[in-house]
Amino acid sequence: MTRRAVVTGVGHYLPERVVENAEFEASLDTTDDWIRSRSGIERRHFAAEGETTSDLATHAARAALQDAGITADDVDAIVLATSTADLTFPSAATMVQAALGMTKGFAFDLQAVCAGFVYALTNANALILSGQAERVLVIGAETFSRIMDWTDRSTCVLFGDGAGALVLEAQDCAGTSDDRGILSTDLNSDGRYKDLLYVDGGVSTNSTGHLRMQGNQVFRHAVEKLAGTANTALKTAGLAAGDVDWIVPHQANIRIIQGTAKKMGLSMDNVVVTVQDHGNTSAASIPLAPSVGKSRGQIKDGDLIVTEAIGGGLAWGAVVLRW
Ligand code: ACO
Repeated sequence: MTRRAVVTGVGHYLPERVVENAEFEASLDTTDDWIRSRSGIERRHFAAEGETTSDLATHAARAALQDAGITADDVDAIVLATSTADLTFPSAATMVQAALGMTKGFAFDLQAVCAGFVYALTNANALILSGQAERVLVIGAETFSRIMDWTDRSTCVLFGDGAGALVLEAQDCAGTSDDRGILSTDLNSDGRYKDLLYVDGGVSTNSTGHLRMQGNQVFRHAVEKLAGTANTALKTAGLAAGDVDWIVPHQANIRIIQGTAKKMGLSMDNVVVTVQDHGNTSAASIPLAPSVGKSRGQIKDGDLIVTEAIGGGLAWGAVVLRW
């Protein structure tokens, strides 16, 4: 018997306010057509004033718990991937813990920018495989609208706010690649590229700062690194691209998503795409996608999924799991 971390619930939350590309035309030298054709983004959601990352995360967590048919009392740990926590401390994860009324177990935030959810899944998997937790709530939640420079057309049109969550549960499996659950993970970072994508402020520099990105440079790295990490994770699981039912990619840019699928030899029919409706929600984009994908009927029990992401650091990685 092999212990595996199996997905038993999924949920998401998007703030009410929807901002169409055309809204930016009034304040910036940009067009709906430029944003659509260069990024695939048509609209995004922005959190209301006073609505924080932990609020979004709590909604998504409740939806995932409901989908799993359990309550917060059944959860041993919360791992929350975010770069936009409510406060410097305590963690947004402990705020979610309190909001859910959970008084046992442990909760912490994890920061790997857009690769955050892949890192969070990998950490939650390790907690389950090591026996430290039976059920983990893994959340990705962001309010990137709070770190946008609204005068910078090359970044502020690309990002959105949202949250998604998965429930991972320990189950005894046969130990083959036909098992449900996480089958392999692959994490990478290379700090030599830290200046390609960063926020020019933080606690230690005494300001909140704004997101800065050399988008075309990030783009240059993205397809190769994403296809590479996805193929490495598949190989570790004893599988190949041809076994994949769904790529659930980080949703930054449709051209990166298409390029990665092509490099892996897969059709866009095998890709869950939500970038048009959400923009880049950083650590929230990966859990948002299967939640929305499942409601569209795209993801079914037993499907093989590879999820991959790259972001600031650069940090990137992939997880192979059977739904
Ligand atoms: N409207 C109109 N023109 C624009 C806009 C805009 N909103 N933004 C930029 N431009 C202009 C630029 O100024 C430039 O003009 P110039 O040629 O006169 O200098 C021109 O468009 C081309 O700019 P590029 O940056 O070369 O455009 P590109 O085709 O590369 O698309 C984009 C830009 C969409 C940002 C793309 O590079 C991208 O998606 N990069 C990757 C982003 C990403 O994946 N990030 C990682 C995750 S994010 C995270 O970790 C937080």
